[in-house]
Amino acid sequence: MSFRHPLFRNESVLVPEHVPASTPHRGVQMRALEAYFQGVAERSQSVSQTVLLHGPVGSGKTMLTKKLGVVLEKKAASYGNRVKFLHVNCRIDRSLVAILNKGLRALGHSYPTRGLSFEELLQALLDELKRDRVHLLVAFDEADSLVESDPPSLYTITRLREVASDEQVFSSLLISKTLDYVKMVDLSTLSSLSWNTVSLDPYSAEQLYDILLSRSQQAFCEGCVDDGALQMAAELASIYGDARYAIELIYRAGKLAEVAEADKVAPEHVRRAKSDLPPEFRKEELVYLDKHQRVMLKAISRVLKKSDSAFATIGEVEKNYNALCESLGLAPNHHTQVWNDVNELARKGIIEAQLSGKGFRGRTTMIGLSRVSAGQLDEVLQEA
Ligand SMILES: Nc1ncnc2c1ncn2[C@@H]1O[C@H](COP(=O)(O)OP(=O)(O)OP(=O)(O)O)[C@@H](O)[C@H]1O
Ligand SMILES: [Mg+2]
Repeated sequence: MSFRHPLFRNESVLVPEHVPASTPHRGVQMRALEAYFQGVAERSQSVSQTVLLHGPVGSGKTMLTKKLGVVLEKKAASYGNRVKFLHVNCRIDRSLVAILNKGLRALGHSYPTRGLSFEELLQALLDELKRDRVHLLVAFDEADSLVESDPPSLYTITRLREVASDEQVFSSLLISKTLDYVKMVDLSTLSSLSWNTVSLDPYSAEQLYDILLSRSQQAFCEGCVDDGALQMAAELASIYGDARYAIELIYRAGKLAEVAEADKVAPEHVRRAKSDLPPEFRKEELVYLDKHQRVMLKAISRVLKKSDSAFATIGEVEKNYNALCESLGLAPNHHTQVWNDVNELARKGIIEAQLSGKGFRGRTTMIGLSRVSAGQLDEVLQEA
């Protein structure tokens, strides 16, 4: 029996929750976050900060947030201050009351969840923070879902620094895919945000390659991943700019190579991994679309459902969109706005839009769906 060298050195490096030591192409954004919270680290009793961090799926928001938490707690300690970092996912902790309770528990205090009003709970939290001389930084991950279910919560979060006016004990980092949720709430809330924003762009294929290289050097044994496999995974994931998808592809490809008893991960394993692993489609993304964008999406799914080809032209889509608007008694948007909406849907990763090669009726924008089938999308839109 021949001895086979294992492919993986440490596969836990490839699970999505792993926080990597090296984060290529996010140095500038990490430094921006650190700079915004520098004052809190230095003078944690008198300075507070609110920062918005936004970027598309898999652009590194949660990763940067977790790294910031570690850095900030340490930096504050080096100034003799205490900063406590709390990361909450607002899809799981769905109300401010739940989040305040989590804050109290993180500080080692437990309060009855029932019986206290929101104001009493908030006062209790602020009192404990002042007594313990601790500054709490809460990272509200997926903040849009909290604001969506409880619109005034954004106002409350941004006013917490005023509630604690004599001393500063509370800062927040609001994380979301887009800033649309901020636009949905009323203007008095907007003005109290001082608009410190850090924005993350989707990753390019080259950037994803660097990320994959750095993660796979730790995860796989030397020489066990073909460079072409990394390039292919980076290329496939670059349609979405999504590092999570890129990493999942290479992880899955590694598993397939292991089962096949191959000596290295090859492009063919990535190809197979891709067909096993359709990128996730998130229904929540549809929540923030306006009426015309929804109608547009409906038109796209209808055209594609009837078509044999993977793409539809923008002309076909627009025709169907105009017809749908008419049946709904809606005045259709003009061509420029139609084009803007298509680009916006593509930017959010809901559809794919690309220019056709020359020769196909000149050059035209081709529209396709890759995260979801046209039939599924049509169903989701019926529900919404
Ligand atoms: N620059 C990078 N270097 C190394 N790994 C990265 C980088 N950017 C993202 N990743 C990894 O990609 C995965 C997805 O990142 P993350 O969870 O931070 O995305 P996100 O922006 O929070 O996405 P979502 O909106 O879906 O929550 C994680 O495993 C993360 O560690
Ligand atoms: Mg995230």
